[in-house]
Amino acid sequence: MALYSEKVMDHFRNPRNVGVIEDANGIGEVGNAKCGDIMKMYLKIEDDIIQDVKFETFGCGSAIASSSMATELIKGKPVAEAMKLTNKAVAEALDGLPDYKMHCSVLAEEAIQSALEDYESRKKAE
Ligand code: FES
Repeated sequence: MALYSEKVMDHFRNPRNVGVIEDANGIGEVGNAKCGDIMKMYLKIEDDIIQDVKFETFGCGSAIASSSMATELIKGKPVAEAMKLTNKAVAEALDGLPDYKMHCSVLAEEAIQSALEDYESRKKAE
């Protein structure tokens, strides 16, 4: 069996939703101290629906594929649903990741959680 699924390779080669949202109202940045990879998520949320999501990932291929898949999984979804996104769901949607690459999908879950927390705290501050 190939180390990486077709889906991982596809999202690594053609990542969806790469970039920055200038008027994002939820931004999260996380990193993994061990491998040094960094992921930043931008959310544009209106009426508690994720209208747009973009990411910038300085990291390995699995981190790029995980960010890409994670953005696809939450785009157009309500905030409450996005909050439930797990790294396992991201890895499953990619048809699996090797065990030692599972932490890359954790980074995607954490980046989205962090961006959603930022959104919630901005909302409270309004
Ligand atoms: Fe660290 Fe992939 S090797 S995120």
